[in-house]
Amino acid sequence: MLFKDTDHFFVTGASSGIGLAIGQAIIKNGGIVVGVARDEKKLIDAYSDSVYSNHFFAEPRDLSCDIDQLQRWVIEISNKYGKLKALVLCAGIRYTKPLKAISYEASLKLFNLNYFSEIQLIKAFSSRVVSCDDDPNIVVMSSIVALNSNMGLCDYGASKAALLNSVKSLALELASRIRVNAILPGFVDTDMIQKWQGSHYEEFKNSINNHYPLGIGKPEYIADACLFLLSDKARWITGTGMIVDGGASLLNA
Ligand SMILES: NC(=O)c1ccc[n+]([C@@H]2O[C@H](COP(=O)([O-])OP(=O)(O)OC[C@H]3O[C@@H](n4cnc5c(N)ncnc54)[C@H](OP(=O)(O)O)[C@@H]3O)[C@@H](O)[C@H]2O)c1
Repeated sequence: MLFKDTDHFFVTGASSGIGLAIGQAIIKNGGIVVGVARDEKKLIDAYSDSVYSNHFFAEPRDLSCDIDQLQRWVIEISNKYGKLKALVLCAGIRYTKPLKAISYEASLKLFNLNYFSEIQLIKAFSSRVVSCDDDPNIVVMSSIVALNSNMGLCDYGASKAALLNSVKSLALELASRIRVNAILPGFVDTDMIQKWQGSHYEEFKNSINNHYPLGIGKPEYIADACLFLLSDKARWITGTGMIVDGGASLLNA
C-alpha cells in the first residue's frame, strides 16, 4: 500500500473521469477520500461498491460559487475528518469558443472554477490547522493545452496555463513544508470530452488517435501518475508540470 489508513485525500471532481479514477486508486492504495462535486447522488453512487464505500466521504459543493467562503469550509472539513494528507484538484470545465463568442460572464465562470477556487483551496490547505505534517502535498490538473496554441481554447488554455505557472510560484513559497505539482494530461476519454464533442465523439476519437503515438488516454493513466506524485516516492519532486499525454506533445514540438 502506498498510503496509511489515516491519510485523508481531498479530491475535487471526484465523481467523474480523471478525479474518479484518482479517488478510486487512492482508496485501493490504502487512503481515505473526501470527494467533492456538485451532484451528491452521482458522487455517492460512484463509490458505492464496498471496495470504496467505507473509505469515501462525499462533500457536495459548487466550487465556483462563494469562493471567498472556501477557506472556512476546508477548515470545517479538516475538523470533521482530521488533517488532510493531500489536495487533488480535478474539478474543471472547458468550452471551445472563438473570440467573438466569448462573454465576460462565461470567462469569469470558467476562471472561477478552473483557477480562482483552486487558489483558495490551496491557501486553506497551506495552513497547519488543515494539512498534516507527514509530506503534505498538492496535485492540480493543468493540461497540455497550457503549452500550445489551440483554436477556440483561449479561456480554457489560459486557465490551465495560469494554474501551471502558479504551481511553480507556490512550490517555492511552500517548499519548507508542502510539495506542489501539476499534471498536464493530453486527451483523456471522459465525460468532459464526450459532452464537448457530442454526436461527433466517435469520429473525433478516431481522428485524434493519429496524433497520439500511444493512443488516446484513459483516466487510469492519469491516476497512476497522480499516485506517484502523491506518494513519498516523489518526495524530492515539487513545482513540476508532469506531461502525461501518450507522446502527443512530441508531435507538436
Ligand atoms: N479529459 C481530458 O482530456 C482532460 C485533458 C486535460 C486536462 N483535463 C482536466 O482534468 C480535470 C478533470 O477532467 P475530466 O475530463 O475528468 O472532467 P469530467 O469527467 O467532466 O469531470 C469533471 C468533474 O468536476 C466536477 N465539477 C464540475 N463543475 C464543478 C463545480 N462547479 N463545482 C464542483 N465540482 C464540479 C464534476 O461533477 P459535477 O458535474 O457533479 O459537479 C466532475 O466530478 C479538469 O480540470 C480538466 O480540465 C482533462
